[in-house]
Amino acid sequence: MKNKPLRLAVVGGNRGATFNKVLDALKSKVILTAICDISKERVDEWLKQYPDIKGFTNYNDLLEKGECDAVFIATPVEFHVEQAISAMKAGKHVISEVFAADTVDDCWKLIETVKKTKLTYMMAENYCFMRPNLMVQNILDKGLFGQLTYAEGHYIHDCRHLRLNQDGSLTWRGEFQKKFIGNTYPTHSLGPVAKWLGIGTTDRMLRTSTFVSPAAATPEFVKRNFGAKHPMAKPGSWKGGDSASTIIETEKGVVINIRVDANSPRPHNMVHYQLQGTKGSYISPRHDFEDPLIWLQDLSKTEKNGQAPHTWDTLWKWGSRFEHPLWHKYLEIAQSAGHGGGDFFVLMDFADAIQKGTKPYIDVYDAAEWSCIVPLSKQSVKSKGKPVPIPDFRK
Ligand SMILES: NC(=O)c1ccc[n+]([C@@H]2O[C@H](COP(=O)([O-])OP(=O)(O)OC[C@H]3O[C@@H](n4cnc5c(N)ncnc54)[C@H](O)[C@@H]3O)[C@@H](O)[C@H]2O)c1
Repeated sequence: MKNKPLRLAVVGGNRGATFNKVLDALKSKVILTAICDISKERVDEWLKQYPDIKGFTNYNDLLEKGECDAVFIATPVEFHVEQAISAMKAGKHVISEVFAADTVDDCWKLIETVKKTKLTYMMAENYCFMRPNLMVQNILDKGLFGQLTYAEGHYIHDCRHLRLNQDGSLTWRGEFQKKFIGNTYPTHSLGPVAKWLGIGTTDRMLRTSTFVSPAAATPEFVKRNFGAKHPMAKPGSWKGGDSASTIIETEKGVVINIRVDANSPRPHNMVHYQLQGTKGSYISPRHDFEDPLIWLQDLSKTEKNGQAPHTWDTLWKWGSRFEHPLWHKYLEIAQSAGHGGGDFFVLMDFADAIQKGTKPYIDVYDAAEWSCIVPLSKQSVKSKGKPVPIPDFRK
């Protein structure tokens, strides 16, 4: 594969389409060769834009005749594992949208398949590559946070409009929220935090508890938009609650707090993070017009006794010193890509891993560890918040 552009097929043409700009920027590394979507209309839209690629409405046909080295799985979550495993069995590398799997068994199956086929599998957790998140990683790697004690990641994004089609039927997101009580979308919050804490290298997540508030805002939304007679407008019609809080304890004793709220009516904050160490602290912005804030005992202002004053530094104050090398090199291109540049780096890292024979930044073990919070949160809620052990997938 060395020096040859990766021939990529996209599966699931909606989220997949947001990678158009990225594909353009990465054309020396990645060539789009096929699109697969069960919707013929969607396939036709792609073929209009990319007349040289092949179009498929059947996934098995894509794997047989798609002329691709890798597939980018951007379908609804329920298809991720099955499609990833059949792709690897057909000799294709896989990059999968989040989250990777919704049962612990499926997490193990993914790992077994990667081990057997020796192909590259990566989860496309784009939030790990966002500029402030990588800058914090760089500062951490220089030891400036001291010993880490606490980390937080929240994904707050009112997605109620994505749960119903215009005719009032439920989308796949709606079906999931209707049936599932637990943490429904943890990886955007947990991914960057897990990288900061060295989960999988210097620390391990041991156990987790989840608590969920009642489904109050979602039936209210249905009532307002589809009328009080809609079956999902009734109290109790949604199992999934408005706000889920997951606590995770690591082997080193670090406490991680992950909140997912995709239902409450409020402006979004999909990139809320905090990190606390014995020598430094980080708080992400609450909205687009705030700066990320940092205080570092060795570099920022301190009181005489070494304690922090009442002021923070903006993270950008340290930009020239701690910008992550990836952002140094690709700032302009990445800034024009989706999800704070994450969409660019995720695909570039995947292509590089295959072409250079290196480990992807988010490998199958990371995918399993971060995704298994979904089924484990359900188990914990069922037992009224009792902590549930997190499997040691790397053993
Ligand atoms: N990383 C991110 O920031 C991010 C952002 C949005 C969505 N996502 C993820 O992307 C995935 C897709 O989300 P979406 O918003 O595009 O969903 P969507 O429902 O809007 O679109 C899904 C597309 O997949 C097609 N599809 C459905 N089943 C299929 C199958 N079996 N085979 C092939 N195509 C199939 C549908 O026709 C549709 O075009 C999800 O896993 C979601 O979690 C990630």
